[in-house]
Amino acid sequence: MQGSANLNVMIKAARKAGRSLVKDFREVENLQVGRKGPGDFVSRADRAAEDIIREELSEARPNYGWLGEETGAAEGKDPTRRWIVDPLDGTTNYLHGMPHWAVSIALEHKGEIVSAVVYDPAKDEMFFAEKGAGAWLNDKQRLRVSGRTAMIETVHATGIPWAGSKYLPATLKDLGRLMPVCAGVRRWGAASLDLAYVAAGRFDGYWERGLKPWDVAAGILIAREAGALVEPIRDGQSMLEDGHVLAASSAIFDAFAKIIRTRD
Ligand code: IPD
Ligand code: CA
Repeated sequence: MQGSANLNVMIKAARKAGRSLVKDFREVENLQVGRKGPGDFVSRADRAAEDIIREELSEARPNYGWLGEETGAAEGKDPTRRWIVDPLDGTTNYLHGMPHWAVSIALEHKGEIVSAVVYDPAKDEMFFAEKGAGAWLNDKQRLRVSGRTAMIETVHATGIPWAGSKYLPATLKDLGRLMPVCAGVRRWGAASLDLAYVAAGRFDGYWERGLKPWDVAAGILIAREAGALVEPIRDGQSMLEDGHVLAASSAIFDAFAKIIRTRD
């Protein structure tokens, strides 16, 4: 697919940050056994990746605004456009030496995500999309959501909140309703990849509460451009502001949404 100039800038930045993260990831694997563990090292790797992305993007587009997980928000001279960036989504996996994490970069224009990149450097999988131009994996493969229609054959992803989170009880209830009627639920620990996997038809559905804009901004566009329906869990919520997201192939969306939206 022939992407826009902005998309090419985003892909280049994601690859460059990915190379830095992969190099540090090898070191994380060595640090696992130490008593102190790799915590501080990973924070530095995460921050370094965000610096790389910011430098690349602001060199190419100096007027755009910024929202990054590590460095926060900054308004640009062009108030209509901003980058939304998670340099390392799946930090817990990275910290534990598990190769399932991603760089997530979205471009928002007038409140709407128009270009998106989710890059999994460990598997060298580059998921990307542009509004109206479809979703793609590594240039050649057009992404389409799954066509499975029987709920009992479907596999879903979610994020299980940490023990102190106010969202834990609701998520456990969701699992109680969903697990008996589907083929499986995964908690793989990187929301951006969960959405990209819905786009690729690997997962049939995904839902999670309490996410941040940088976790989902890029993944939402990629999933939608592959034919997924992506909505807030409750009417009237904003996915980027409230962070409650429900995504599924159109074939099972209604059945899946009914299960997740049940109040009990
Ligand atoms: C987290 C991951 C995880 C999701 C959490 C996020 P981080 O992002 O996306 O899958 O369940 O809610 O905070 O902290 O690894 O960038
Ligand atoms: Ca994240």
